[in-house]
Amino acid sequence: MTTHHAKKRVLSGMQPSGLLHLGNWLGALDNWKALQEQYDCFFFVADWHALSTNYADTGRIKEFSRELLIDWLAAGIDPQRATIFIQSRIPDHAILHLLLSMMVPIPWLERNPTYKEKQDEIKEKDLSTYGFLGYPVLQAADILIYKPDFVPVGKDQLPHLELTREIARRFNSLYKPVFPEPMEHLTKFPKVLGTDGRKMSKSYGNTINLSDAEPVVRQKLKTMVTDPARVKRTDKGNPDICPVYDFHKIYSTKEAQDRINTECRTAAIGCIDCKKLVADAMVERLVPIWENRAKLTAKPDQVEEIAQEGGHRAAKVAHRTLEEVKEAMKI
Ligand code: TRP
Ligand code: SF4
Repeated sequence: MTTHHAKKRVLSGMQPSGLLHLGNWLGALDNWKALQEQYDCFFFVADWHALSTNYADTGRIKEFSRELLIDWLAAGIDPQRATIFIQSRIPDHAILHLLLSMMVPIPWLERNPTYKEKQDEIKEKDLSTYGFLGYPVLQAADILIYKPDFVPVGKDQLPHLELTREIARRFNSLYKPVFPEPMEHLTKFPKVLGTDGRKMSKSYGNTINLSDAEPVVRQKLKTMVTDPARVKRTDKGNPDICPVYDFHKIYSTKEAQDRINTECRTAAIGCIDCKKLVADAMVERLVPIWENRAKLTAKPDQVEEIAQEGGHRAAKVAHRTLEEVKEAMKI
């Protein structure tokens, strides 16, 4: 079966479960930005998915959805090129989710590794719900309804994509070949550690957010852990094991990196000065994003208009697929 679009299509989503941090930006968003140059891109805010873990505390989902759209736009996702929308405004996702749920065997969902992992990780919430088990079915509906060629995701999402393909195959063989099987487009994330030296993650509270103001970014860098061997200013360090140096690799010039590398090893530079340098380099790159953020935050109507416009475009495509699905299922 063929996809009917001329340009290859890309679809991806992000959950509005918190503020976007540098790790998300350098990985996923940079990748999306590159993809929009070449492909017919659909990017959406997966607010229903955020309910799967936050159903008992939904208070900030709307706010996070709006902030996420602002982050995308500020970082250079272009609504002229990409279709940007909010999942919950396209009810056809939910209808397809329901129809697919009728034919997805529960064991497929129970052996999904993220199902068990997340439950173990998030002990404080009761995740033994119908919706949480069915999370990948909703994700499959999100994806299949747009018949994308590629789905850019991090490797944590690969099991969901494999399940999406299995669901597509099952549908196609039970009824009619409606769904092409989407391929993953793996996103390479540069190594970004949080201020405590662990992986940067909202759940560890160690993030630097795109929405942080300059003094906050500088303060977070000041308290960031470094090579623990450098207790005194005269102690020599090893940049290879220092999370601050990882930021130099992303934000500083090659010359600065080489110089710091040598000076750290000989204790010619101290961590305080080294962090000041990385803060300057980082802030320089963040300033345009902060400026865009400020402009967009001041014009909520403009952001809303972009989401509506994207929603209209997405709804048309989703509706067409759903008609095919109903026809195939004779319902
Ligand atoms: N599960 C994805 C995540 O947590 C979010 C998501 C929902 C998604 N639906 C999607 C990603 C469809 C890609 C395609 O990151
Ligand atoms: Fe890390 Fe820089 Fe300190 Fe070396 S000088 S340990 S690279 S912060």
